[in-house]
Amino acid sequence: MSEATITHSTDYASWKVSIRNGLKTFHHPPEHIPDLNYQEPDDGLTEKILSALSRVDGLPPHNVLLKGPRGSGKTIVWYRTAQILGVPLYYLGGSYGTSRGDLLGEVCPQQDGSFGFATSALFEAMENGALFVFDDMDKIPESSLTPLLSVLNENRVLHSSYVGSPCANENFMFCATANREISNAEIRDRLSPVINVSYPSKATTEKILRSRLTKADEKWFKLFMHECKSDKLSPRYAIQVLTFAYKMHTIAYQKGTAKNTESDILKYIRIAKGSDKKDQEEQNSTIQKKTYGKTTKDTDGLEIFSLLSGQEQDKSKH
Ligand SMILES: Nc1ncnc2c1ncn2[C@@H]1O[C@H](COP(=O)(O)OP(=O)(O)OP(=O)(O)O)[C@@H](O)[C@H]1O
Ligand SMILES: [Mg+2]
Repeated sequence: MSEATITHSTDYASWKVSIRNGLKTFHHPPEHIPDLNYQEPDDGLTEKILSALSRVDGLPPHNVLLKGPRGSGKTIVWYRTAQILGVPLYYLGGSYGTSRGDLLGEVCPQQDGSFGFATSALFEAMENGALFVFDDMDKIPESSLTPLLSVLNENRVLHSSYVGSPCANENFMFCATANREISNAEIRDRLSPVINVSYPSKATTEKILRSRLTKADEKWFKLFMHECKSDKLSPRYAIQVLTFAYKMHTIAYQKGTAKNTESDILKYIRIAKGSDKKDQEEQNSTIQKKTYGKTTKDTDGLEIFSLLSGQEQDKSKH
C-alpha cells in the first residue's frame, strides 16, 4: 500500500500517514463508535439492513439507502450495524458545501511548501473493505455526486487523478441516509433497497428514554409518555425534552423550589415542551436571576454553576 506508514496523533484524532505515488498521504481515519445504547425498533430495521449488506451465496452487498424524517434514528443505526458486523465505519456527512473533493480526496499544501494528499472516507472504506456511510446525502449539490456513479456500479471503482482508479475491496459496503428523495436519478437508480425509517413505536421510544435517563424514577417516563401520547415523537425530540425537563427539575429540587411530586414533574415536562407558556416565563426569569446571581449580589449563580457542571450529582433525589 505504501513505502512507509506512520501514525500521526493529536489530542483529537489519529491518522495514518504514508508515501503514495510520491505524495505524502494522510489517511482519513475511521469513526469512533461510541457506547450506543441502541434500542431495536419493532420493525426489525437492523435485520433488514444486515440482509441487504450480506453476501448470501456469494451475492454482493446492496447499496442501501435509509430514508426517513429527522431524528428518527437513521444515523445511529449505521453505527449499530458497524458494531454488529465488527467492521470499521467511515463517515461522510453531506451538506450544501460538500464537494467532489470530499468524495475523492484532496491535495493539501504542507508547511514546507510541498503538497500532500488527504484521502477521503470513501476511499479508505473502499480500500480497507469497510462500511462507508454517506449521511444526509440529499443535502449535497448534484454536481458533487458524480464520482459516486462508478462506485455504485458493480465494478465499484473510484476515479481519481491522484490515486488512480482503485477498485473496492470485496468487503466494501456503501450506505446512505436521506430525509428526502435523491434528486439525481442516476444515483437514485443505483441505491437499492430504499428502506423507509419511521419514528419508533411509543414503547421503543420509552426504552430509549429509559436507557438515557438511568437515574430518573418511574414517574418521569409514565408522565412524559402520557403527556406526549398524541404527539408524533421523534427519539431526538423525546430525549431532548425529557432530559431538559429532568435537569431543570433536579436543579429546582436541589434549590428547594420544586418537589418530587407528579405535579411538579409534569410542570417541568410542560415547560421543556413549551406547552406551558406561563410556567416557561416564570422559569426563564428564575434561571436568568440564578445564572446571573453573582451580579445581583446573591450566590445562586455559583450554586447553579456547580449543578450545571455536575458537581452536585450526589445530592440526587431520584
Ligand atoms: N433505536 C434507537 N436507540 C437508541 N437511540 C436512538 C434510537 N433511534 C434514535 N435514537 C437517538 O435519537 C437521536 C436521533 O437519532 P439520529 O441522529 O440517528 O436520527 P436521524 O434520523 O439520523 O436524524 P437526521 O435526519 O436529523 O440526521 C440520537 O440521539 C439517537 O441516539
Ligand atoms: Mg442523521
